[in-house]
Amino acid sequence: MSTASNLIRSRRSHFPKEFSGQKLPDELIHLAMENADTAPSHKLTLPWRFAVFSGETLEKLCDAMLAWYDANTPAEAVNPDKRNKIAAYKQQLSHAIGVGLHLSSKVPAWEEEAALAMAVQNLWLTMDEDPHAAGYWSTGNGTGSDAMRAVCGWDETVLHRGWFFLGHVETKRTHSQRSPIAQRVHWVP
Ligand SMILES: Cc1cc2nc3c(=O)[nH]c(=O)nc-3n(C[C@H](O)[C@H](O)[C@H](O)COP(=O)(O)O)c2cc1C
Repeated sequence: MSTASNLIRSRRSHFPKEFSGQKLPDELIHLAMENADTAPSHKLTLPWRFAVFSGETLEKLCDAMLAWYDANTPAEAVNPDKRNKIAAYKQQLSHAIGVGLHLSSKVPAWEEEAALAMAVQNLWLTMDEDPHAAGYWSTGNGTGSDAMRAVCGWDETVLHRGWFFLGHVETKRTHSQRSPIAQRVHWVP
C-alpha cells in the first residue's frame, strides 16, 4: 500500500481517558493548522475557522466546559461519571481546537460543511507526524452554544461545530472493526 493509503487507514480516534497528560509540541499544532488550511472549498470560500487552546487558555477552556455542563444539566440528570470525565480534561489534554464554520452565502451551506470536514481530516491526518499525537473530533461539551462560540473568540457569523481534542498517547491504535464495505459502495452495472 502507498504511504497515503497507510496514513488514511491507520488514522483513529483517541479519547482523553487515553491521554498521558504529556504535552505535544506547539510546532505540530502549527503544522496541523497549515495542513487543515489547504483543504479544498468551492469558490475558495475557506469556510473553516480554528481556535487553538494551550497552556492557560486550555485550563480556562476546561473550566468553561465544566461550567457549561453544570449550567445546562438539570440536577436530576447530572451524571457523576460524565462530570468527572469533563473535570479530568485539565490533566489529560495537550491542546484543544475549537472547530468553527463561516458561511459565505456564495455556495450552498452543505458545501461549506463538507469543506470544513475536509480541513478537520487534514488536521487529524497530521497527527501521523508524531508517534504520540492523537485525538478526535468531539461534538459534545457545549458544541453549537453561544457560550462556547464566545469562548473561541468568534462572533455570530461563525457556527461552533465542536472541538478537536489532542493529547499524548504512549501507543496509538490503528485498527478499525468495520462492517463490510459492500454495504456502502457498489459499482453501477
Ligand atoms: C463530525 C464528527 C463528530 C464526532 N463526535 C464525536 C463525539 O462527540 N463523541 C465521540 O466519542 N466521538 C465522536 N466522533 C468520533 C467518532 O466516534 C469516531 O470517528 C468513530 O468512532 C470511528 O472511529 P475512528 O475515528 O477511530 O475511525 C466524531 C466524529 C466525527 C467525524
